[in-house]
Amino acid sequence: MLSVLVWIGIVLLGIAIWSILIEPHWYRFRRMKLRIPGKLKTAVTILHLSDMHFTKRVGLKKLFFQKLAMLNPDLIFITGDTIESDAGIETAVRWISGLRARYGIFLVPGNHEYYDYRLMDHIRYHMGVSKISVHRNDSKRFFEAVKRVGVKVLIDESIELSVHGNALFISGTDDPLTQKVDFKRTFKGITPERLNILLTHHLDCITQLPTKDVDLVFSGHTHGGQIRLPVIGPVFSGLKLPRCYVDGLNQYEGMTIFVSRGLGAGKYCLPRIACRPEAVLFEVEG
Ligand SMILES: [Fe+2]
Repeated sequence: MLSVLVWIGIVLLGIAIWSILIEPHWYRFRRMKLRIPGKLKTAVTILHLSDMHFTKRVGLKKLFFQKLAMLNPDLIFITGDTIESDAGIETAVRWISGLRARYGIFLVPGNHEYYDYRLMDHIRYHMGVSKISVHRNDSKRFFEAVKRVGVKVLIDESIELSVHGNALFISGTDDPLTQKVDFKRTFKGITPERLNILLTHHLDCITQLPTKDVDLVFSGHTHGGQIRLPVIGPVFSGLKLPRCYVDGLNQYEGMTIFVSRGLGAGKYCLPRIACRPEAVLFEVEG
């Protein structure tokens, strides 16, 4: 009996070490090709980053960011939860400012830009009591700091861009989970002939879009479910949409959607199993 308990203890310890100390820091870089018919003359490269949850200490993310800094894609999209709390602002700005993109870095906020979720806030959040925390972050300071290093912050607004002669329209929402999104303002000026891209932290908002013209959506928040078991798949979803939208490529009413597994996690939700943190470089073709 004792030896069985010892073995169970060893296995549990192994799972804890793997899921907390190893996998959350085993960053994965992927390249993916996407085809959006009829919208592009030449390919556009996009690096998608999400849910970096920067704290004061950058840790092993530093080595991964040094590699990302050499990519120089056309565009970089950052879809929220860039910081864990105010303590991560300087670290986030330092590492984001080292990234290069020929046509710009675009960022939308997530819930962590607005709220610092401490232990009780996390418990309330995951029990479905409240999606907000009583501890507010200085979101204005974060937005100003990233703007100073050239990042374009899109909060319920859009921007027109010409990338290698391709007409792009990039829209970004405020955090749909904790803020009231003004969709009318977000999509002001959208027309069907350009490649229309939406950046939003929380994918559930795609069920409320006032336009059918969005082609491509980049999102985050779910962290891919963080713990993915054989047969069952992701244990946690965080979405009202079906669980297939927890990560990766999908389609929804004519839109191509990509949800990132993110590059970090909240300080009280660190474990990852079969769900490595990731950054994806897309080559989008017409
Ligand atoms: Fe997150």
